[in-house]
Amino acid sequence: MFLNLQKNLLSTGRRAFSTTAKMATKQHEPRFKTFKIYRWNPDKPTEKPRLQSYKVDLDDCGPMVLDALLKIKNEQDSTLTLRRSCREGICGSCAMNIGGRNTLACICKIDQDNSKELKVYPLPHMYVVKDLVPDLTHFYKQYKSIQPFLQRKTFPADGKENLQSIADRKKLDGLYECILCACCSTSCPSYWWNQEEYLGPAVLMQAYRWLIDSRDQASHKRKEMLQNSMSLYRCHTIMNCTKTCPKGLNPGKAIAEIKKSLAFD
Ligand code: SF4
Ligand code: SF4
Ligand code: FES
Repeated sequence: MFLNLQKNLLSTGRRAFSTTAKMATKQHEPRFKTFKIYRWNPDKPTEKPRLQSYKVDLDDCGPMVLDALLKIKNEQDSTLTLRRSCREGICGSCAMNIGGRNTLACICKIDQDNSKELKVYPLPHMYVVKDLVPDLTHFYKQYKSIQPFLQRKTFPADGKENLQSIADRKKLDGLYECILCACCSTSCPSYWWNQEEYLGPAVLMQAYRWLIDSRDQASHKRKEMLQNSMSLYRCHTIMNCTKTCPKGLNPGKAIAEIKKSLAFD
């Protein structure tokens, strides 16, 4: 009796195992998609940049391009270099050119059509530190140049906060959300060609954000800094910036507003 019970248990176990194995074989039909990724190594400066192909099983990968890049880095090639931090569209560090468009890798869904390969480059027209990492030194220097902080000559009588009406605070909506990812500036042809002097859409939108802040008292100086042929007026309203912004902001409109306010000053 005990022997029979043992045999039954064993055969049930074998059946369960073979069913699981069959299911596993079925489930593991991989759905490989090819990612072609820009590679350049500063330690080998004589070697030209190239695209390197990696295959990733879409059924064994998260839905976003950043998931695929991290999977490649973790499982296939630890030398692949990229920036990322928050993985939820907040820090702006994973900005890159994906499938021909500047965007954030962490909120960019992988096209599930695995017959199409996906090309990934660093942000265009920037010096490259390594692989997908652009050098943003100049971009941050330009941001610093617009003095992105509150400036006042007078202070509240109670020595506390600089208050603002609800309506004035509302004017900052659509501007303060910018995460300075540089997707817009590096999609702008004017910025590509005049980067040394033209501030570009990201920085100009922040210049506007401080210009219209009702608490700020440096608007005259701020406008003066933009009143030259290069810092602002290289924008020709091509609007690539607005089209590409992964946060849905409108730097092109902000630039137009600055131009208007300078014209009527
Ligand atoms: S405006 Fe948009 S694209 Fe440009 S830096 Fe800000 S978040 Fe990035
Ligand atoms: S509107 Fe066009 S030219 Fe102006 S900043 Fe945007 S992309 Fe550049
Ligand atoms: S990792 Fe922070 S925005 Fe993508």
